[in-house]
Amino acid sequence: MFKTKQDQTQVSEIPVPTVRPRRLRLNANLRRMVQETELNPSDFIYPLFIRHGNNIQQPISSMPGQFQWSIDRLKAEIPSIVALGIPAVILFGIPETKDACGSDNYNPDGIILRAIRAIKDIAPDLVVISDMCFCEYTDHGHCGIINTPDNEHYTNNLPHGYLLNDPTLELLGRASVVHAQAGADIIAPSGMVDGMVGVIRAALDANQFQHVTIMSYAAKYSSGFYGPFREAAESPPQFGDRSQYQMNPANIREALKEVALDVAEGADVLMVKPALPYLDVLKEVRRTFNLPTAAYQVSGEYAMLHAAASNGWLDLERCALESLISIKRAGADMIVTYFAKDAVGWLEKRH
Ligand code: PBG
Repeated sequence: MFKTKQDQTQVSEIPVPTVRPRRLRLNANLRRMVQETELNPSDFIYPLFIRHGNNIQQPISSMPGQFQWSIDRLKAEIPSIVALGIPAVILFGIPETKDACGSDNYNPDGIILRAIRAIKDIAPDLVVISDMCFCEYTDHGHCGIINTPDNEHYTNNLPHGYLLNDPTLELLGRASVVHAQAGADIIAPSGMVDGMVGVIRAALDANQFQHVTIMSYAAKYSSGFYGPFREAAESPPQFGDRSQYQMNPANIREALKEVALDVAEGADVLMVKPALPYLDVLKEVRRTFNLPTAAYQVSGEYAMLHAAASNGWLDLERCALESLISIKRAGADMIVTYFAKDAVGWLEKRH
């Protein structure tokens, strides 16, 4: 085909770009030089599920590569985390027996407290974060005490099955002190119970744990992406769901209100959860509050990438690192991620 005169005129009128951003993408070294965000091992917090029993490394089927560990098996697992330069773990306990008030969470011989002590023995400098919630420890699978007539806290005017806020606060304060006594460096309340940060701060301070940090799950949404976690932690709610205390995914103003309350109550680190579907919330929290901000890339985010990769539909390494850098770019100073160990390996390989 030849060009008509008219066509030629049009072509010559296309302006030549004077700014060419592509110049800085020419080769790998140039791209590295202008890279704005970088992932480092120190960005990651690695979650661990600890169960009772001996010599157990039980695979979690919906989370390939993740396990429930018995305490004795931590002797090998913890040093492997430390060796990668990962600075912190966050712990979830799966108790042998559950009850209405989740007493295994504050019984000094409970699974999680034994795990904290064991990890601190193995690696005193590894930062141990305790997820502070009751859902793994209660027989009904909710994050605190439930309003039922057989309960000493039963409150006539509140709905049957309602999560009793203030009695739960008392237990959160008590359990946090026991976790601190066991050696937890950071308490991470995750139940979205009103007033949880203030009560935990007061309980810690009253027991000479002023140095223990609070990382609040400040904006935690009622999310379908927690699905695989509930298998991992054996903690699905036995009735209803968590939308009476976790947040509606449609809301961001409410997230800022929740975060502001936690800041006022003394939170040291703020967390947004889940991560990738809530990057707008993460960005806003990071910009609005002058505190370190964490994001939790949750079980479903991990499972999704693995599922697609195992079908050959996505490249796991590439997409996992892309998700993580997006979370960091949006404002996360630290990321709780099941990919922590893999990501460090992938990053090392690239250098
Ligand atoms: C406990 C808790 C949950 C998660 C972290 N802490 C479950 C929930 O709130 O339902 C989810 C983590 C994940 O999905 O990876 N309250």
